[in-house]
Amino acid sequence: MTLVLEMRNVGVTYSSGSLWGKRAFDAVKNMNFQVRAGETVGLVGESGSGKTTTGRLCLGLQRPTTGEVLFRGQPFGRGEKPRLAAVLQHPRTSLNPRLKVGTSVGEPLVIQGVTAEERRDRVADNLHRVGLRPDLAARYPHELSGGQRQRASIARALIGNPEFILFDEPVSALDASVQAQILNLILELQSELGFAALFISHDFAATRYVASRLIVMKVGEVVDEASSSNLFHAATHPYTRALQEASGLLDG
Ligand SMILES: Nc1ncnc2c1ncn2[C@@H]1O[C@H](COP(=O)(O)OP(=O)(O)O)[C@@H](O)[C@H]1O
Ligand SMILES: [Mg+2]
Repeated sequence: MTLVLEMRNVGVTYSSGSLWGKRAFDAVKNMNFQVRAGETVGLVGESGSGKTTTGRLCLGLQRPTTGEVLFRGQPFGRGEKPRLAAVLQHPRTSLNPRLKVGTSVGEPLVIQGVTAEERRDRVADNLHRVGLRPDLAARYPHELSGGQRQRASIARALIGNPEFILFDEPVSALDASVQAQILNLILELQSELGFAALFISHDFAATRYVASRLIVMKVGEVVDEASSSNLFHAATHPYTRALQEASGLLDG
């Protein structure tokens, strides 16, 4: 399958501290991975391990300090503009609380110059696609349940027909039963639409469920990788095992 996104020896260094003691801190070190069309790569690790930083690099929102991030083999800013989208933990980052849901879902089309009439149609199509009734377009985000809001965020992500979608902790704020529905929706949408995805979570079980390949991160570094065939067994790496246990995947 087509190679969509590639990280080559990527590092991100933040400088922190005061005037008296400036310290350089590596949030991401020597990161290498590829994401192909139709594939979800899972990135799992405890809080602070550098997952969100990695996600921002994939969207071109942040530049690496070292190494390269390539989209369709080209650095950001070169070649045809990549079609990228993101679904984040809190839908309030994609759904403006003061705007009707349909307006936020259709907003990415405004800069593309799509007419209001076509926007309405495409909002309705994409709400339907994520399992929401079209009349929810006229509601405000606070009138929807948490699961419905996250579905609407996914509809907004899909509306520009993205080649790559970043999911950064998309189910972490939801109840367990709703989490399962959203994870199933992501799987269905991907097999229907064939986008490439990076699914980020601290939850090993959720990540394993949607990803065909898992990358395990600890304080900025990849410490373990597993393919789908190995995801159902207890990991040999102690950190991966700890994440599995924290997810309730292993007994005892
Ligand atoms: N803009 C920033 N400036 C300085 N440090 C940052 C910045 N963004 C993140 N960090 C630090 O980098 C580390 C990794 O953060 P992050 O990528 O958000 O991890 P995760 O998503 O896995 O929790 C954390 O220690 C965080 O405090
Ligand atoms: Mg994060």
